[in-house]
Amino acid sequence: MSTYLEDKRNVTTQRLLEMKQRGEKISMLTAYDYSMASIIDKAGMDVILVGDSAANVMAGHTTTLPMTMEQMIYHAQCVRRAVKRALVCVDLPFGSYQGNSKHAVQSAIQMMKETGADCIKIEGGSEIKDSIERILSAGIPIMGHLGLTPQSINKFGTYAVRAREESEAQKLIEDCHLLEDLGCFGIVLEKIPAQLAKQITGELSIPIIGIGAGPYVDGQVLVMHDMLGINKDFSPRFLRRYADLFETIKEAVENYIQDVKEGDFPNEKESY
Ligand code: KIV
Repeated sequence: MSTYLEDKRNVTTQRLLEMKQRGEKISMLTAYDYSMASIIDKAGMDVILVGDSAANVMAGHTTTLPMTMEQMIYHAQCVRRAVKRALVCVDLPFGSYQGNSKHAVQSAIQMMKETGADCIKIEGGSEIKDSIERILSAGIPIMGHLGLTPQSINKFGTYAVRAREESEAQKLIEDCHLLEDLGCFGIVLEKIPAQLAKQITGELSIPIIGIGAGPYVDGQVLVMHDMLGINKDFSPRFLRRYADLFETIKEAVENYIQDVKEGDFPNEKESY
């Protein structure tokens, strides 16, 4: 059995830092409900992210923007009830922290109080500096999120790779340093060139978790529905599928329908 499965201690932000220091990669995956979170936690995941990607994979929206505080709180409560070991991180939804730092800290406090999450994740750099400072001053650990930030999709206009241009890469590097200096415990970097992610990972002492950011970061995160092949509409180059649950589930459901139609289910043993 691997050491990460033998190690029953709760994962904390401090332990993630220690993992970076000793070169142990950090595993992170999204979950939105009790049953899946329970499986993922028992498998030995380090960080479970209640992502606002719930908007896409749970609710069928085309962007993450419609997600509300109430919806994120509901998903986070379901996940929290299941998770015994992993660090539970929750996305603050679009509109709950941008623009007004007082509103931001209220949102973060509400999220922590009502869900029992261990930390929150927010998207952005210098433009949300005040919100980051206020949330941290309330004692709430923050994971930053830079590069492709889906809550700003209307500003970018595309989900293409970010920071290929020198000026954007420079701003990204500065934002990463800013987040570390402010006191964020980690940063997710989404869809940026691998060499840029490597440089940032080397310069910062806090853990860098990549999604579409290449192999030279401190850990990896994926959306659960994508890596399990439940959601087959999304096939970016960075995605590795570990199962084809769409087909597995469809086949099981087809067999069930057939058994019902043919009067084969339930049989005598399955009846009272
Ligand atoms: O919402 C989410 O699932 C995320 C990951 C893509 C990092 O933010």
